[in-house]
Amino acid sequence: MNSAVMFLSNYIDWIKAFHVMAVIAWMAGMLYLPRLFVYHTEVAVGSPESEMLKQMEHRLLRIIVNPSMIAVWILGLTLAWVTGAYEDTWFQIKFVLVVLMSGLHGFFASTVKRFARDANTRSTRFYRIINEVPFLLIIGIVIMVIVQPFG
Ligand code: HEM
Repeated sequence: MNSAVMFLSNYIDWIKAFHVMAVIAWMAGMLYLPRLFVYHTEVAVGSPESEMLKQMEHRLLRIIVNPSMIAVWILGLTLAWVTGAYEDTWFQIKFVLVVLMSGLHGFFASTVKRFARDANTRSTRFYRIINEVPFLLIIGIVIMVIVQPFG
């Protein structure tokens, strides 16, 4: 065991606590952004409501969603490294699901930019459906971490 791992292993519970806090902030944003997109498709391009939604989306992405995702990744990878979780099946499945979540994050970030240019072409129905995907991923991720059904 190298000395960095030995040092960090004293703080696993603290790292876990901050990991979960960052997860809460990231997921709050991942659940709320697509809801804002639903509202955004229902207002006229150029209206004051549309301009306000652009600002809300931009701020949510910049202030909450991007920084918390970075914190989740840094803290989560530190945990995997220090605990050796990367060798376990539950972690490997969780990792795939988290990569999918991060891809969805990228899609939401590009959607914020598309709305900002008044260039959205997708329907209300599309955003209503995509709104459910983060929660489906959360179900899988939390079951992997807590229940570890596959060991
Ligand atoms: C971004 C990449 C992520 C990595 C690399 C990662 C990795 C980890 C690791 C290694 C642990 C420690 C598990 C243990 O040994 O007890 C952990 C804990 C946890 N993770 Fe993540 N995680 C990530 C993202 C997420 C996400 C997106 C969620 C939820 C949607 C999540 C939810 C949790 C929860 C609830 C715990 C606490 C489990 C406990 O109480 O022991 N993680 N994570």
